[in-house]
Amino acid sequence: MRAYYYDNIPGDQRLPHDYVPSRPVAGETLENIGVKYWNIPVEGHEPKVNALAKERGYKNRDTINVSKEGLGDIYEAKIKTFFEEHMHEDEEIRYILSGSGFFDVRETPSDEWIRIAVESGDLLVIPAGIYHRFTLDTANNIKALRLFQDEPKWVPYNRSEQTDVNPHRVQYLKAIGVGA
Ligand SMILES: [Fe+2]
Repeated sequence: MRAYYYDNIPGDQRLPHDYVPSRPVAGETLENIGVKYWNIPVEGHEPKVNALAKERGYKNRDTINVSKEGLGDIYEAKIKTFFEEHMHEDEEIRYILSGSGFFDVRETPSDEWIRIAVESGDLLVIPAGIYHRFTLDTANNIKALRLFQDEPKWVPYNRSEQTDVNPHRVQYLKAIGVGA
């Protein structure tokens, strides 16, 4: 995992978009906005992932393969949807089994994008209420375990005036010490 500020230069979302020179983001900065991270080597990962799932109450899981082969006809549409800035009312938990990609999370109150480059062995927890988006990188494939607190849900709420006042968004801002 590597985290840095996204350069906002228009162009292919799958390119690194790293400032020159890079503006790295420390683990502490990610902690401050509620993003959690573990590295669990893929080989023999199951007991460790199971233990973490038990500890954090992740009852369900499935595997997603984001690639042209994995998604077929819905590939292009999905890639677009994943990159729309959105939030969820639950944590988004991803353990990368193979491949790589970028999760972009909004830092508040700066409103800057922090890009998190993930690869196999990375386990990322994106808190409920944070604005974020995902893209593949130019290698065009990622296979990940999706963990869920309850039933598998995939409900993205795109950023809007409504999501700004969504109780989960408001709760998130309180939790990170921003907003009333
Ligand atoms: Fe999401």
